[in-house]
Amino acid sequence: MSEKEFKKRILCIGAGYVGGPTMAMIAAKCPQYEVTIVDINADRIDAWQTDDLPIYEPGLLEVVKQVRGKNLFFSTEIDENIKKADIIFVSVNTPTKTYGEGAGKASDLQFLEKTARNIISAAESDKIIVEKSTLPVRTAHAMERILNTNDKNIHFDILSNPEFLAEGSAIADLENPDRDPNRISGNGKWNKSQKRSCGNLCQLDPERKNYHQ
Ligand SMILES: NC(=O)c1ccc[n+]([C@@H]2O[C@H](COP(=O)([O-])OP(=O)(O)OC[C@H]3O[C@@H](n4cnc5c(N)ncnc54)[C@H](O)[C@@H]3O)[C@@H](O)[C@H]2O)c1
Repeated sequence: MSEKEFKKRILCIGAGYVGGPTMAMIAAKCPQYEVTIVDINADRIDAWQTDDLPIYEPGLLEVVKQVRGKNLFFSTEIDENIKKADIIFVSVNTPTKTYGEGAGKASDLQFLEKTARNIISAAESDKIIVEKSTLPVRTAHAMERILNTNDKNIHFDILSNPEFLAEGSAIADLENPDRDPNRISGNGKWNKSQKRSCGNLCQLDPERKNYHQ
């Protein structure tokens, strides 16, 4: 399938333990979508393009090999890919804070906030942003606060798709999710545009087209 024929362009920012396996599975299940994963870590991006992947999960290499170069791509060109994307998954690290208020307990959202600013500066059109973490409410609020105060007249629908993968069984978890992947909660009350965005996102799971609010 040539680039022009893809139905939608999906981007994932963060090529880590969550972003890599999740996007590989979406690419495998949805050949009609172009899926690109970007990261600031060039070594990580290079490794994803070899058979020595930067993370080990049983079955992951097989899925990656099935789709890599067809509808799954890896890149360090973050701005260019933000511009082209219809749906952006944000899967950057949210480590525990080591200093300041909440040290040792609260999550450090600096990478997430930096990514949100990056999306604003590069985007030229409306986008669906899917925030993927174990802290859905707090991170979705942080993303929304930053993204929708932009002065470019661009609208972002921020959806939250809570993380459910366990280390060592990511591929099996993605094949048989124990948390309904369609139960994607919006931040606060849903408006028409958010409902439409959620419907869009749910098409990523061909077997479960209905979604719950
Ligand atoms: N690893 C797990 O088992 C696990 C489990 C549950 C939830 N989570 C959550 O999922 C999210 C992602 O975690 P992970 O384990 O995949 O993290 P990770 O550290 O494996 O990967 C994150 C990647 O994001 C990249 N990154 C950081 N800032 C960036 C930026 N501005 N632009 C582009 N790339 C950037 C980093 O270079 C890194 O490669 C976190 O919120 C984490 O809390 C992880």
